[in-house]
Amino acid sequence: MILSPSLLSADFSCLGSECAAMEQAGVTWLHLDVIDGSFAPNITFGTPVISSLRKKTSLFFDVHLMVDQPSRYLDDFARAGADMLVVHMEAETHLQRCLARIRELGMRAGVALNPSTDISSLRWLADDVDMVLLMSVNPGFSGQKFLPMVEGKIQAVRRLLDENGGQEIPVQVDGGVCPENIGRLVTCGADIFVSGSAFFRFPPYDQRLKCFKDAAEQGPLRPAAAACSHWKPRAASV
Ligand code: DX5
Ligand code: ZN
Repeated sequence: MILSPSLLSADFSCLGSECAAMEQAGVTWLHLDVIDGSFAPNITFGTPVISSLRKKTSLFFDVHLMVDQPSRYLDDFARAGADMLVVHMEAETHLQRCLARIRELGMRAGVALNPSTDISSLRWLADDVDMVLLMSVNPGFSGQKFLPMVEGKIQAVRRLLDENGGQEIPVQVDGGVCPENIGRLVTCGADIFVSGSAFFRFPPYDQRLKCFKDAAEQGPLRPAAAACSHWKPRAASV
């Protein structure tokens, strides 16, 4: 399993050293929540923060865009150093074109669904996405409670992807993930886990990472989990 700690819960007065501490602890991914105050009710940070951190760390930058019509900003985030861009299905009118452009720019392309968004159109995107993010809270803030109905949704998405040639597309879960529920989420079919408050509130980070990993430990690796375990930051893959 991959844990992608959400920067939104880190100490904003020292983001560079937070990244260094995570890397030292064995963390490999960083989840960056970009929120525009329109698509979701919060304003966080944008490309200047991401490009500054890019110079300090080689974590895999998993950038979650909670912004309206994200296709307006893809080139900017590529230049800032994103390794994956995740756009919301609800926010983009021309989703297939947007995902294709993300890949053209050399990044992995992810699509995110709010808790109440239906999964059926994922069937038409299996050739265009590298990852599906299922929101398990309504987007905007960290520290919210996991919505239990998302467990069934993870199972349904895993099944839909497997039936449509997407066996190697991992499912990411974001919102309210903690060591107490991660085992169930793995069983349902999730491979990548975002954690904000349940990670950063409990240093030291190496022990906290171990706690998530131990709780997630399950049987043999699924094809999707094996596939994303090889994803590397762009700079390192050239
Ligand atoms: C919410 C963000 C999440 C959030 C997760 O809009 O997308 O990534 O920071 O935080 P926790 O794990 O505290 O729910
Ligand atoms: Zn997020």
